[in-house]
Amino acid sequence: MRAISGREGLPEAGPVDTFKTALDPFPSSTGTIMESLACLDGELMPPEQARVPIWDRGFLFGDAVYEVYRIYGGRCWLEPEHSARLRRSLAEMEFPEVDLDTLTARVRRTIEVSGIEEGTAYIHITRGVAPRAHAFPRPPVPPTELIVVRAYDDAETARKRESGVAVVSRPDLRWKRCDVKSTNLLANVIALESAHRAGAYEALLVDAEGQVTEATHSSVLWVRDGRLEGTPNDPAILPGTTRFLTEKLAAELGIPFAETRITLDEFLGVDEAFLSGTTIEVLPIVDVDGRDIGGGQPGPVARKLQTAFRSAVDAWLSPRAALR
Ligand SMILES: Cc1ncc(COP(=O)(O)O)c(C=O)c1O
Repeated sequence: MRAISGREGLPEAGPVDTFKTALDPFPSSTGTIMESLACLDGELMPPEQARVPIWDRGFLFGDAVYEVYRIYGGRCWLEPEHSARLRRSLAEMEFPEVDLDTLTARVRRTIEVSGIEEGTAYIHITRGVAPRAHAFPRPPVPPTELIVVRAYDDAETARKRESGVAVVSRPDLRWKRCDVKSTNLLANVIALESAHRAGAYEALLVDAEGQVTEATHSSVLWVRDGRLEGTPNDPAILPGTTRFLTEKLAAELGIPFAETRITLDEFLGVDEAFLSGTTIEVLPIVDVDGRDIGGGQPGPVARKLQTAFRSAVDAWLSPRAALR
């Protein structure tokens, strides 16, 4: 096996026999770094060759849940947290049993074979393949499990982390179970497209009562009177893994945190605001609907949290941490 810095000492990805023989054309010793690699129901293949039947319930109904991991140094950051959220999404939507240990082993193996050090791992599980009917298939059918590992170049996002980004408010038209990471993302897609057309990076979603919920693919946090705040962790938002890490880092820095609701009008008057997410990490918001936030500059709390985030990743990537 290729020796890869930051990955040495990591537990083995799992027995190769959890994969089908199609693995063989993908020896991990070639030293080649791929752009992307898929693993569909345990079979490794280039993503372009992966095929799902038209009766797949993910395709027909969006009857599927997903996760996105950030890969730093060839390893999945916040792996237990993402895995726990996936377990919860599956349970809340009453999916048939999915062996998450095998899934984790397959994700690790796909990363290893791809040779990707900086990237993302996309996990997508559907309720399986059955002729179209809304109700669950009876008896249940095996879920479809897709993993796609892709190289990720952080350079552009890194620049945005320095400058901050503009967002625009848009109505939150999503369903009432946003705590489940479902692939039903049409309302998110429409709101983000509208934000991009307005020249903004993200859409700040606002519910029917005028309260900010979150953004289309990121969590929202803000600072008022020295306190970090976020919306209550309820079905109106996805419980962000990066948001929870950010809250923990804030506590370590002595910055108090509170869950609270906030109207769009109040949001326009906060001292600082930022987005958090798996690839964006902590990304300052400097403009909402064309109005400056925090004087139009990333604020001191955002800067402290960005530094703390980087230190946490570096500590985790250190060879000692990999042995734990
Ligand atoms: C709607 C929504 N909120 C928040 C997040 C941030 O979650 P995480 O920090 O786990 O990436 C995401 C990430 O995809 C998202 O789609």
